[in-house]
Amino acid sequence: MKLRAPAKVNLSLRILGRRADGFHDLESLVTPLSLADEVTVDTGIGQGVRVRCDDPSIPQDDSNLAAIAARQFHSHTGIRFDARISIRKRIPSGAGLGGGSSDAAAVLVALDSIFETHLGADGLEKIAAHIGSDVPFFIRRVPAWMRGRGERIEPAALSRKLSLLLLKPPFGVATPWAYKNWKSSTEIPGVDYAPQCWQDLELVNDLERPVFEKYTLLPAMKTWLREQPECHAALMSGSGSTMFAVCEDHAAAEILSARALEHFGSTLWTSVCEAG
Ligand code: C5P
Repeated sequence: MKLRAPAKVNLSLRILGRRADGFHDLESLVTPLSLADEVTVDTGIGQGVRVRCDDPSIPQDDSNLAAIAARQFHSHTGIRFDARISIRKRIPSGAGLGGGSSDAAAVLVALDSIFETHLGADGLEKIAAHIGSDVPFFIRRVPAWMRGRGERIEPAALSRKLSLLLLKPPFGVATPWAYKNWKSSTEIPGVDYAPQCWQDLELVNDLERPVFEKYTLLPAMKTWLREQPECHAALMSGSGSTMFAVCEDHAAAEILSARALEHFGSTLWTSVCEAG
C-alpha cells in the first residue's frame, strides 16, 4: 500500500509553559502541505520490520520513526507481522516540516487499512502520541490546532489555500535543543518577532527566539523576506531550520524563490507549495 506523507508548517506556535514531564504545553495552528514523502508498506515480506529510504542520511534501523510506528501498532493491536517500509524522501529532515512524523503516521494509517483494524482517526491518534508530539496531527492531515504536548488535535478550516515558499539552509536544528533553550533565550535587537496579521491569520513562532540566537542566518532571512514585495508574511516553521513566506499565488512564490537563491546562494533548498 502506497501513501502520501505530507509535510507541515506551523502557521503559529505559542509555548504556554514547561511541564513537569520536561515537554512544553503548546498552542499551534498547523497545516499540511502539497510537498510530501511517499511511503509504501508491504506486509508479509521478509523477517521483522525493515525500513528502506532513498535518502542515505536518514537512519534505516529501528530508530526510524516509521519502524517505531510499526512496533507501536503491534503492541496496541497484538497483531504480529513482517513488513517492508519504503520511503521516498522529498521533505528535508531537521527542517521543522515534520517529515519523519508524517512518515510514521502514514505507516499507522496503512497498517490500520491492511489489517482492517478500524481504529479510526481517534484510535490512531492515541497510538501516534506514543511515537512523537507531531505524529497525531498527521493522522487526519487537515489544518488543525495542536494543543497539550501536541496530542490534542482540533481540525480548523483555513479561509483559503495558501501559496508558500519554503527556504531551508544547509543546516538543520535539533528540536530538543530549541525547546531546552526557549526559556533562557532573548530577542535579538532589530529583529521582529511580533505576530504578523494577514487576512484572518496571526503568524507567530515562539521558538524563533532561541533558534535565531544560535543560527543567525535565519533572522537575516526573515528580515529579507519581509522586505520583498511578493511576501505577505514570513516565519520559521516548528523548531526550524525552514523559513517560509506566504505569497499571493504560486507565480509570486516562484519569483521570490529565484531571487532568494540569487541572494542567499544555491546551497539554499527551496520549494514552492500549497498549504491548507
Ligand atoms: O515528541 P518529540 O520526540 O517529537 O519531541 C522532541 C523533543 O522536543 C522532546 O524530547 C522535547 O525535548 C521537545 N518538545 C517539547 N515539548 C513539546 C514537543 C517537543 O519540549 N510539546
